[in-house]
Parts: sequence; structure tokens; C-alpha cells
Amino acid sequence: MPRILTGITPSGTLHIGNYFGAMRPAIELQAGGDAFYFIADYHSMTVITDPQERRDYTRGIALDWLACGLDPQKAVFWRQSDIPEVCELTWMLGSLTPMGLLERAHSYKDKLAKGIAPNFGLFSYPVLMAADILLFDTHVVPVGKDQKQHLEMTRDIAIKFNHTYGETFVIPEERISESVAVIPGLDGQKMSKSYGNTIEIFGDEKALRKKIMGIVMDSRTPTEPKPDADKNLAIQLLKFFAPKDLAADFENRLRAGGLGYGDLKKALFEHYWNHFAPYRAKRAELVANSDYVDQVLRDGAARARAVAEKTLARARKNCGLR
Ligand code: ADP
Ligand code: TRP
Repeated sequence: MPRILTGITPSGTLHIGNYFGAMRPAIELQAGGDAFYFIADYHSMTVITDPQERRDYTRGIALDWLACGLDPQKAVFWRQSDIPEVCELTWMLGSLTPMGLLERAHSYKDKLAKGIAPNFGLFSYPVLMAADILLFDTHVVPVGKDQKQHLEMTRDIAIKFNHTYGETFVIPEERISESVAVIPGLDGQKMSKSYGNTIEIFGDEKALRKKIMGIVMDSRTPTEPKPDADKNLAIQLLKFFAPKDLAADFENRLRAGGLGYGDLKKALFEHYWNHFAPYRAKRAELVANSDYVDQVLRDGAARARAVAEKTLARARKNCGLR
């Protein structure tokens, strides 16, 4: 059975890009595979320096995953920092990772371009991610398109390690579903916690309604035909939430003229809000039962650790460490 693994960084509140790009595919895969999902709190250290904020986001993401359908009976679910072995493996892999490979990382270059002062953590981020994946003998990694290059780097690093020290790691593959590869944010760019353009999965109804009603449209009047209706952001987002024929109907009405942007955004909000209603109820239950959430993460860490220890022992032996 293929082992499936993915992680999400607790650097903010999860949004519908995270949901459609990573969480939903992972949750769909948990039934048929050997699923390993974790909260990448070590990774969050490159973005967040407030301990309480890190704790809050980590807890929030645990609740979000469980509310959205992660089943701890089917999937191993843990906090990355509960398995510090991953840091040791990062060192072993880093010692074989060319500087040039890391310098070419889009995520690193993007951060530099935004004026963020680089540090070693930011630079070596893809090596820690490779360690996450290789430590668990992962076959398949469901992620959004933005992580494609990190997966290629993981493969390069694993191949180099196997070549240098003998067969040690499984060579993983990414799984990127094209239809949800890049969910656009409120400004039309990729939705991201770091761009301030998100629609959260969970949150205050009034504030979220305001965000959606505030999506900026052009100044064409409602009656004007809009031949570019398929490019409209609200139409694109509606397609994730409304049944296919209904979304097509909205698109046709917008194209023909006669549908106002306000009405379109109202429909988007309703479909979005109803889509997550059952998960909101489940999340509220979980919030009231925090011992259960702690227990799930503790059990997950124990199960993950059993696998990690074996892989790390193999890697240590192959490279001549005791
Ligand atoms: P963010 O960019 O918001 O910080 P992360 O980097 O923590 O998100 O991403 C967690 C997972 O969600 C990754 O698998 C990533 O590819 C996916 N993801 C994030 N944003 C999007 C998006 N806009 N569309 C599709 N997938 C996304
Ligand atoms: N870098 C990923 C992100 O920002 C999160 C992540 C960390 C991850 N380790 C991983 C994803 C391992 C998949 C596999 O989205």
C-alpha cells in the first residue's frame, strides 16, 4: 500500500486554498492508503517568532484537520516537533545538498524579493521538508502546485543520498490535482496566508461575508454582457462550492448580462458558508473536547516515531554513524 504524507505549516489560519489544494485530497486518500499527516511547526519558525502564536496556530490547524474529516483511526496525525529525529536527518541530507539547488528555490527567491531578511532556516527550509518526507518512507505527497519544486528537490536529495551511501530512501512522488492546483485569493493572486488575500475555512460569519462582498469587480453595469465571465473571480470560486450546473448557470447569466456582481457575490457567500456548515459543527464539538485532540496528537506522535526511528537507524548505519 502506498504511503501518503503531507504537512501544513502553522503560520496562520487555514484557508480554502489549503483546503482544496492539500487537505481535501489528503482526506480523500486516507481511506485507501497508509496516511501520514502532520503539522509542520518547525517550519513555522521561519515565519513566526511568538511562542503563543505558534501554539495557537498549531492547535487551530489540529482542530481544522479533524473537523474537516481527518480520521485518526485511518491516518497517523502528529506535530512535527514531537519527532525531533527529523532535525538529525535534515543535517545528514543538508550535508549532501548543493548550495546551488537551494539558491534556485522559488519560495526562497520570492521571500528575498519581498525584502524578507534571509536566514539559515529560510534557506534550508527545503532540506527540512525533504527530511519530513524521507523519514517516513513516503511514496506519494499530495500538495498544491506551489510545492512542486520542493518535491523535485526532495527527489534529487534522496537520489544523491542513495547514490552516495547505498539504497536508503524511497523516492517520493508529488500528487497535484490540476483542478485545484492554485486557488485564487481575493485579489486574484494565489491565495496564501502570507498575502493577506484569504478566505478562511472557519471564522466569523459577518467578517467573512464582508470579505466576500468586498471582492473588487470592474465598473461594467449589471445589464452589460460579459464575454469574459469565466475569468470572473467570484465565478471561479463559486465552482468549488456550487453544483456544476448551478455554477454554469451563474456563469451564463453573467456572460449574457443581467446578473449583478452583488447578487453573484451573495450567492458565492451562501454556497461557501453552507459547504463548511457540517465541519463547523464538528469543530465546535472538538473545541469543547480538547483532551481528545491532545490524545490524538500524542498517539499519532508515538506511531510516527516508530517509523521514524527505523528509517533514521538505517540512514545512520548506511552513512557510517553509530
Ligand atoms: P500558505 O501559502 O497559505 O502559507 P502553505 O504553504 O502552508 O500555505 O500550504 C499548505 C498546503 O496548502 C500546501 O500543500 C500548499 O500547496 C497548499 N496550498 C496553499 N495555498 C494554496 C492555493 N492557493 N491553492 C492550492 N493549494 C494551496
Ligand atoms: N512546505 C509546505 C508548505 O508550506 C509544508 C510542508 C512541510 C510539507 N513539510 C512537508 C508538505 C512535507 C508536504 C510534505 O506548504
